[in-house]
Amino acid sequence: MVASPDTWSPASWRAYPALQQPDWPDEAGLGAATERLKELPPLVFAGEARDLTTALAGVAEGRAFLLQAGDCAESFADFSAVSIREKLKIILQMAAVMTYAGALPVVKLGRIAGQFAKPRSAPTETVDGVELPAFRGHMVHDDAPSAAARVPDPERLVQAYHQSAATLNLLRAFTKGGFADLTRVHSWNQEFVATSPEGRRYEAIATEIERALRFMAACGIDLVSERRLHEVDVWTSHEGLLLDYEEGLTRRDSLTGEWYDCSAHMLWVGDRTRQADGAHVEFFAGVRNPLGLKVGPTATPDELLDTCERLDPLRTPGRLTLIARMGAGRVEEELPPLIRAVREAGHPVVWACDPMHANVFRTPSGYKTRRFEDIMSEISGFFVACRSERAWPGGVHLEFTGEDVTECLGGAEEVLEDDLSTRYRTLCDPRLNARQSLDLAFRLAELMRAARDTAVRDG
Ligand code: PEP
Ligand code: CO
Repeated sequence: MVASPDTWSPASWRAYPALQQPDWPDEAGLGAATERLKELPPLVFAGEARDLTTALAGVAEGRAFLLQAGDCAESFADFSAVSIREKLKIILQMAAVMTYAGALPVVKLGRIAGQFAKPRSAPTETVDGVELPAFRGHMVHDDAPSAAARVPDPERLVQAYHQSAATLNLLRAFTKGGFADLTRVHSWNQEFVATSPEGRRYEAIATEIERALRFMAACGIDLVSERRLHEVDVWTSHEGLLLDYEEGLTRRDSLTGEWYDCSAHMLWVGDRTRQADGAHVEFFAGVRNPLGLKVGPTATPDELLDTCERLDPLRTPGRLTLIARMGAGRVEEELPPLIRAVREAGHPVVWACDPMHANVFRTPSGYKTRRFEDIMSEISGFFVACRSERAWPGGVHLEFTGEDVTECLGGAEEVLEDDLSTRYRTLCDPRLNARQSLDLAFRLAELMRAARDTAVRDG
């Protein structure tokens, strides 16, 4: 079913069951905040969203990879140029390694500039023995462990918009203003390799990149003035969870007359809100942005096809990215039937792997964590699953931070269970720290290279 121009409107989701929405105590305040959002300038343009769809179509066709990464939940409290820059730096470093290893472009998509709302498995959580409404993100309320702090405040929708605008402004400046220069990004990677316990393993790739840069220079390519070597596109994305916010930022494109959700370039629908007859799918069916859809272990082929049909009735390459999050032990078994069903239904999707969300557990001391080895194991299982179905392993979806936190276990510079308390700072899920993210990129590079060689060999 195509979202019908007769029945779809930015508000038509209101007639459908909307899961995971906060209980806003102040209806009038919510209405006023949504009206305010409708008057504010869009954060992104429709044309940019179309360019991202084109880039993702390249991934769907096996001509590029996707790196989607960023915070689990952005914070109103941790909002600075340094934290934005450090996240961007890691994305650029990871992408450089992946581009070289895969010998293909990498589409860089941040979970950033709008990732402020969280779906929760339970409506309450217990902090220090006190039961509280579960934390739903700074777009809803404060994270402090008190009942008063957890009351939803619709003014925060507007605050999230302004923080997103400032974040995006800085991202645009950094990515076009010289910070993303490839030679510089490479020298950051060399620094990492030189100080990593796994340095030897990574040195081979780093040295090859070094030689490739020298080769380009020897061929007469001016590494300093070549625009493509120091400007990049980094796109924005977040979970489209709070539909009042997304509706408030939806605009009709003056060129095509189509609707776009101008809160981000790409929006994704979470694993808890992906029902084909739910409000989230109704809303996103009607906007033309590229969309993500999380696919967890409870998804059946029939359910998934119903949702794909609603979100991608025209079978548009790049429109839909299916982000599998099955768990390290399950992906090889659970994913192939879904890949097959989607292929047989003719949806030209990107398949990506979120190795984070189904590999969470609590330590005996109460920390919510993930093991680096489980994350890597889900990624390699994903490559195996894609290969078994002759599907392109299109990319990864990660939660990381540029800071030196101790939230996930393992990595080359091993974080142990006793270390978790040292710098455990996340608002929600445990994130890879900067070094763990780079470890991951170098290990992923080995898998990508093999996938690429297979694709070339098999034509
Ligand atoms: C997330 O990406 O932060 C998230 C909550 O994911 P999922 O919907 O896959 O659980
Ligand atoms: Co998360």
